[in-house]
Amino acid sequence: MMTWKNQFSVGVKTIDQQHKKIILYIDELNRAMKKGKSRVILRDIFLKLDNYIIDHFATEEKYFDKFNFPGTLAHKREHKEFSQRISTLKQDFGEGKLLVSMELMDFLTEWWTNHIMGDDKEYARCFNEHGLS
Ligand SMILES: [Fe+2]
Ligand SMILES: [Fe+2]
Repeated sequence: MMTWKNQFSVGVKTIDQQHKKIILYIDELNRAMKKGKSRVILRDIFLKLDNYIIDHFATEEKYFDKFNFPGTLAHKREHKEFSQRISTLKQDFGEGKLLVSMELMDFLTEWWTNHIMGDDKEYARCFNEHGLS
């Protein structure tokens, strides 16, 4: 189960808010799965999460370009790898192959925890120095 912790803060209000929402959607998916909700409901939450993540990555990447963030290439690669993984899962969902499982929830929880605490924290100083906080 994933909940927001203060240590997730990257010191940028809009980004923190987006991360909070992503964590909320992951939790919503987790709860729906545990309650045995239908695959249509699970798919809708999953798609909502996916759309929100696409917007979130675009927000971070817009600032990377704007501020000439030195870690841009590596960070964009991380986003791309995650997006590709999600695309595959989305396709499996469409074909009726994917069941929302503990394995998927563990993957989402682990990926987002590591990404926020690792990669995202790395741009904090750069964003702050450009007046974004
Ligand atoms: Fe992020
Ligand atoms: Fe990121």
